[in-house]
Amino acid sequence: MILVKLGGSVLTDKARLRVARKAAIARLAKELAGAPESLFVVHGAGSFGHILARRHRLGDAFLGKDQLAAGARVQRDVKVLDALVVDALLKAGLAPVSLPPSALLSMDDGRVASFDWKAFRDYVVLGLTPVTFGDVVRDRTRGLAICSGDVLMLELAKAFRPTRAVFVADVDGLFTADPKRRRDVRLLESVRASDLDGIDFTPAGIPDVTGSIEGKVRRMLEIASHAGEAMIVNGNVKNRVRDAVRGRPVAGTRVVGGP
Ligand code: IPE
Repeated sequence: MILVKLGGSVLTDKARLRVARKAAIARLAKELAGAPESLFVVHGAGSFGHILARRHRLGDAFLGKDQLAAGARVQRDVKVLDALVVDALLKAGLAPVSLPPSALLSMDDGRVASFDWKAFRDYVVLGLTPVTFGDVVRDRTRGLAICSGDVLMLELAKAFRPTRAVFVADVDGLFTADPKRRRDVRLLESVRASDLDGIDFTPAGIPDVTGSIEGKVRRMLEIASHAGEAMIVNGNVKNRVRDAVRGRPVAGTRVVGGP
């Protein structure tokens, strides 16, 4: 089984509210259709989630009733992006089934409290391709919370122990510092926990509502420890995702879990 996370920065224009990159979505769907094993697709929210989530502070403790409407709005918006992804996968010849975290996962103070992985298992056994996404979910303590695609990757990796986990980003992989901020950076061919001290994780702009880059890399390392192999590849470069899901050598960063 292959687990793929399509980052919101590849699927959307992250600076413009609810603007999808439809050509990229169509191309990536075709590249995923060549997967040699059953596939689980997780996608981020990009500008269909982060902008309003930040504006209404949906990542913080639950503050007031106006956040309910904002939470509902974001749940609706991420479903719109999800429908675009599902349509593209259908067109590429797959049989995708959308499994929304708002219904299948709950949190307690920002941590996963329950996750219905059996729905994923049942559909994949049937031969369908489960698709899930970063979403606004129930939280016992906060009321609502944000569940990122990376959190879903971890839950799915723990439940299904994939052959391969592929993180699709808008850069070539993990660099020694942010390539959008500095020029003297080097792409890391591989990353393991002991490399983290040597990386400059200073954020480029407003922090992402689902956490820092360092937090994301730490979670990727944890996911990698539940997968045969894991890597970060650039989804903006044609055929990188196709090659990565097929297990061919590809430019990117290998994520090495374990101590
Ligand atoms: C974000 O999910 C979810 C919401 C903001 C509702 P992700 O954190 O996985 O999304 P991207 O990949 O960064 O866009």
